[in-house]
Amino acid sequence: MNIAIVGVGYVGLVSGACFAELGSTVYCVDKNLQKIEALKRGEIPIYEPNLERLVAHNVQGGRLFFTDELSEVLDRVEIVFIAVGTPMASDGSADLSYVMSVAQTIGEHLNHYVLVVNKSTVPVGTAEQVRTTIRNALAKRGCETLRFDVASNPEFLKEGAAIEDFMKPDRVVVGTDSEQARELMTRLYKPMLLNNFRVLFMDIPSAELTKYAANAMLATRISFMNELANLCEKVGADISAIRAGIGSDARIGNRFLYAGCGYGGSCLPKDVSALIATARENNMSLQLLEAVQSVNQKQKGVLYEKFVSHYKGNVHGKRVAVWGLAFKPETDDLREAPALYLIDQLLEAGCHVRVYDPVAMPAARILFKDRIVYAQDIYETVEDASALFHVTEWKEFRMPDWERVRTLMKAPLLIDGRNVFDSSQLEGFYYLHIG
Ligand SMILES: NC(=O)c1ccc[n+]([C@@H]2O[C@H](COP(=O)([O-])OP(=O)(O)OC[C@H]3O[C@@H](n4cnc5c(N)ncnc54)[C@H](O)[C@@H]3O)[C@@H](O)[C@H]2O)c1
Repeated sequence: MNIAIVGVGYVGLVSGACFAELGSTVYCVDKNLQKIEALKRGEIPIYEPNLERLVAHNVQGGRLFFTDELSEVLDRVEIVFIAVGTPMASDGSADLSYVMSVAQTIGEHLNHYVLVVNKSTVPVGTAEQVRTTIRNALAKRGCETLRFDVASNPEFLKEGAAIEDFMKPDRVVVGTDSEQARELMTRLYKPMLLNNFRVLFMDIPSAELTKYAANAMLATRISFMNELANLCEKVGADISAIRAGIGSDARIGNRFLYAGCGYGGSCLPKDVSALIATARENNMSLQLLEAVQSVNQKQKGVLYEKFVSHYKGNVHGKRVAVWGLAFKPETDDLREAPALYLIDQLLEAGCHVRVYDPVAMPAARILFKDRIVYAQDIYETVEDASALFHVTEWKEFRMPDWERVRTLMKAPLLIDGRNVFDSSQLEGFYYLHIG
């Protein structure tokens, strides 16, 4: 099949490369010309394991192309995926301006039937808005009889495991109201689901809401565990033991049940917020999710609170080390990362911050410039530090030479935001963790 994917970010580039790998001819379109030119030179603008190889393989195979002009490729495709960003607007709702601008371009240039598919995470009713925008633009050109369909196909991939998730999804959710759209989507996804066909077809509003429901559920589990972890600290219980105790119950399961320093990333915070906004627009409140959100906001400050409380408020001028910046391992994505919040607090308190992350340092340099120091490795980060914060659970932080770390530090205070270290191996450290 010939398809276009508009928006070449974490979702668009992975989807494009994967569909190409499965035999489709894919035109990846982004308005960011620099990104497109870099991709044409074989440079991958994001860090995602194995993506570089997959992109190169499909470019060489003549199945994957990059352009900044949707109008140039629209005539050649049967499906157009919209995979642009839907960031949080100032009122907490999803900013749909990027999605609508793509819809407008489609309406201005469409000359034959296409299926337009929203892969971006968008609130209920967005497919209808996309349809109206395209229809109005067609009408302006006197092309109102031209047929097209709009479908919803929310994406569930996880950064860091995106290719695996895309190629072997737990399920593919498709919202459609047209037989032709259903047939096209079935054809497109068939190669990857041959053995276990799990495309869940449903109506469009349900598909749109399913994505938010999934992220809201994941965020709820995290905030639940974080709040319980804080109670554990008060009553002398251990959140890791509790996780094992409840996670073994098949009704609960043990995934996404980790206490930590709050959820971040490009999805959970904005999607919880957008779902709350959708409810507000419909004159109701989602009280549970409002609590999930405020628990998370508070939790992002927990590492700093532990640090301040350890030094009884005397933290001004202290040198501190931060291991991990990305919102989770195996990505360079810093959006809403707890580390950013922590670093802001530390800088405001007058601390000297030195950081290290295996892949997110270039992105951090853009944000913090020379306000913090960028170390070459985990050991350089901790030199002379009065506290070491472990914020992202990269594998390379798992088994450091603790003796070396301890002797390099000025004061061996280790504050673990991910509960991964074994206190029995931390002789000589003052070890604080969550719950
Ligand atoms: N990142 C994830 O893990 C993930 C997972 C599932 C769903 N999603 C959803 O997928 C969508 C995309 O997320 P992302 O993380 O890939 O975003 P991203 O910010 O990495 O990429 C978005 C891209 O869209 C481009 N763009 C914006 N407007 C455009 C336009 N009019 N024409 C062409 N290109 C345009 C931008 O230049 C950018 O390169 C969002 O709705 C997000 O919520 C993301």
